[in-house]
Amino acid sequence: MKHLLKLQDLDKNEILDILNLADQLKYENHNKIEHHILKGKTLGMIFQKSSTRTRVSFETGMYQLGGQALFLSNRDLQIGRGEPVEDTARVLSRYLDGIMIRTFEQSEVEALAKYGSIPIINGLTDYCHPCQVLADLMTIREYKKSFDGLKFCFIGDGNNMANSLIVGAITMGMECSVACPDGYKPDAQIMKWANENGKFTCSSDILECAKNADVLYTDVWASMGQEEEKAEREKIFKDFQINDNVMAVANDNAMVLHCLPAHREEEITAKVFEEHANEIFDEAENRLHAQKAVLVKLMQD
Ligand code: CP
Ligand code: NVA
Repeated sequence: MKHLLKLQDLDKNEILDILNLADQLKYENHNKIEHHILKGKTLGMIFQKSSTRTRVSFETGMYQLGGQALFLSNRDLQIGRGEPVEDTARVLSRYLDGIMIRTFEQSEVEALAKYGSIPIINGLTDYCHPCQVLADLMTIREYKKSFDGLKFCFIGDGNNMANSLIVGAITMGMECSVACPDGYKPDAQIMKWANENGKFTCSSDILECAKNADVLYTDVWASMGQEEEKAEREKIFKDFQINDNVMAVANDNAMVLHCLPAHREEEITAKVFEEHANEIFDEAENRLHAQKAVLVKLMQD
């Protein structure tokens, strides 16, 4: 693995390798075992959108591995004033050992990888969020021990999260069902791939989607960059919520995950959220461990 641009870049064994290393790093972190694996290395973190988890977990993760991280806001970089990404990539490659970028266009992440000469990690684009899904898969395996025979269900917007979750669920061999309103379906190519490579359904029937599910997942109705559509989306998505009716048709011990930030009484009720808070905050913690595993795989000499 040279970069992490999207989850499709990894096969099942590569994902398992990352999850196994993440489990080990989590154990070592909880037991206060120090690391110097990335001593002297610097990760640049370019943010063109807000972040709590991604920023703090990458920065802390680099520190815990013996390296350091630089927070590079779009507001301060020349990229925000029009310097081409192709030039930024070539310059930053002379200073840094890796770049994590959160931005709008997937093509910008791909361009950084094409023109730069250091590992590039996608920290979320409008198209996908691979780091989040590695942490999600780690959490599912922690709770369910194996992916075999599980049904994974996503309810909500067919957005960056849905795209990466479909790839992650199908790659690991889970059945995957997605419920979205018409006109808000996930990426067509990803759905075609999922149909060809596993058991996949996409419809607007929430209860059918959630029936016998072992893992339920949702995300905000309006993603970063869609703030102006918020009121319109609240109407369109009002029935696409994880609530007691949905939980009633899922399997008895079904998990609920959410990438966060969560909007209670929109995509999930406060009641269901709190009943599954342990899973959701373990998932948030696992961002740190899964990303440390990615950093080691990409940046270790
Ligand atoms: N889930 C996630 O990526 O959170 P942040 O936007 O806070 O980084
Ligand atoms: N779909 C959300 C995910 C946030 C982690 C967004 O892009 O804002």
